[in-house]
Amino acid sequence: MARRKKIYEGKAKILYEGPEPGTIVQYFKDDATAFNAEKKDVIDGKGVLNNRLSEFFMTGLTQIGIPNHFIRRLNMREQLVRNCEIIPLEVIVRNYAAGSMSKRLGIAEGTQLPRPIVEYCFKDDALGDPLVTEEHIAAFGWASQQDMDDILSLALRVNDFLSGVMLAVGIRLVDFKIEIGRVFEGDYQRLVVADEISPDSCRLWDIKTGQKLDKDVFRRDLGSLTDAYSEVARRLGVLPASNVTKPTLIN
Ligand code: TMP
Ligand code: ASP
Repeated sequence: MARRKKIYEGKAKILYEGPEPGTIVQYFKDDATAFNAEKKDVIDGKGVLNNRLSEFFMTGLTQIGIPNHFIRRLNMREQLVRNCEIIPLEVIVRNYAAGSMSKRLGIAEGTQLPRPIVEYCFKDDALGDPLVTEEHIAAFGWASQQDMDDILSLALRVNDFLSGVMLAVGIRLVDFKIEIGRVFEGDYQRLVVADEISPDSCRLWDIKTGQKLDKDVFRRDLGSLTDAYSEVARRLGVLPASNVTKPTLIN
């Protein structure tokens, strides 16, 4: 069998050329990194969980009409997605203060924000993904005013969807990051939610106990990352109650 062409390897995923034009295969690795890859480890089963969880969230977005890149899951670690041109921004939505916002503004982690706050970071590992304003985005031409209106609306719709889905299983969506891609259709472009939505890119706290069920478990050495992600998957009905390491994933 001909080897697939690797297009890009990131910290947590590898992208391969897809079987049809305009498609990409996203392979989820077990690698975990934090603090711009200063901290690294291989976490058995993380890729399988994130593949399933991202499928679950993207499929949910499709069901309520929020455009995204997901086409279908191919196997335990791979999914087929639409090829898109990623806008070089990390779009962060925060409902409660945590992480870099708490540090930057001196607000205690867990403080509810008066309304969801959207932030933009310039996607550049060498610079450590610095926070930027809409002024930078417009002046450097990373996105147009129309794009920014669409990005804001997508980000807030994703926030409403994810907050509700999580609340229903006793989890608080503290914050999350998404990436947005451009899909070209003839002379038109459409913006879609791309990359992944998983506990790698969200902060998820158990509502009753405050237990962290996201990548902060790895960043802050709080225990087993796969146990945390498996708990999210189990509550969402993505995994049966048994363990992820056993090949018992629901189809
Ligand atoms: P922050 O508080 O570190 O800025 O993170 C905000 C949210 O963005 C949090 O849910 C984790 C997510 N995130 C990523 O997905 N990738 C990153 O590189 C960083 C720094 C944060
Ligand atoms: N994703 C970033 C890294 O790999 C940062 C983070 O998620 O904390 O290093």
